[in-house]
Amino acid sequence: MSATRKLTVRRATRDDLTAIVRIERASFGRDAWERKWFADCLSAPENCLFLVASRGEIVVGYALAVHNQSRSELDSIAVAPSHRGLGIAAALMNRLNAVLRRRGVSAMMLTVRLDNAAAIGLYRKLGFRRERRINGYYDDGAPAWRMRTSFGSV
Ligand SMILES: CC(C)(COP(=O)(O)OP(=O)(O)OC[C@H]1O[C@@H](n2cnc3c(N)ncnc32)[C@H](O)[C@@H]1OP(=O)(O)O)[C@@H](O)C(=O)NCCC(=O)NCCS
Repeated sequence: MSATRKLTVRRATRDDLTAIVRIERASFGRDAWERKWFADCLSAPENCLFLVASRGEIVVGYALAVHNQSRSELDSIAVAPSHRGLGIAAALMNRLNAVLRRRGVSAMMLTVRLDNAAAIGLYRKLGFRRERRINGYYDDGAPAWRMRTSFGSV
C-alpha cells in the first residue's frame, strides 16, 4: 500500500500538475483553482514556494505559499482524501516554514473558512493565531478567519 511507503516532501514540478489538480478538485470542488494557477506559481519560484508530498511515485498532497522578503501567504494546501489524518499536511507546513525561514521570511498569513475544522485544527497546532474574522469572504457568503504566525514562535 502507498500509505506504508516513506513520505517525501519536495519541490513541485510540471509533471506533478495533473495529480495536484486532481487533489485540488477532490478537496475544493467548484472552488478549485485551475491548472494554470498552479503552473504560474512554478514559473515564479523566486517568490512562490510550491511543495508536494509523495509516497513513492504518488503525489498525496501539496502546499503553496507566495512571499516577499519578510512575509508569506499560504495560498493553498490540500491532501488527497484517502491520505488525510496521517501527518502529511503538518509535514508540508513544516517544510514550507523551514524553507521560508532560510529565505529570510519571518511570518505567514492565511485565510480559512470558519467551518473548516480540520484546517483550523492544523493551523492552531502549528502556532497560528486568529487575527480577525471577515464576514462574507467566500463566494457563497461564508465567513473566514485571517490567521497568522511568526516562525520564531513555532
Ligand atoms: C486540512 C488538511 C490539509 C489537513 O491535512 P492532513 O494531512 O489530514 O492533516 P495532518 O494529518 O497533518 O494533521 C495535522 C493536525 O491538523 C489537525 N487536524 C487534521 N485533521 C483534523 C480534523 N479532521 N479535525 C480537527 N483537526 C484536524 C490536528 O491538529 C492534526 O494533528 P494531530 O493528528 O496530532 O491531532 C486536509 O484535511 C485537507 O486537505 N482538507 C481539504 C483542503 C483544505 O481544506 N485545505 C485548507 C484550506 S484553508
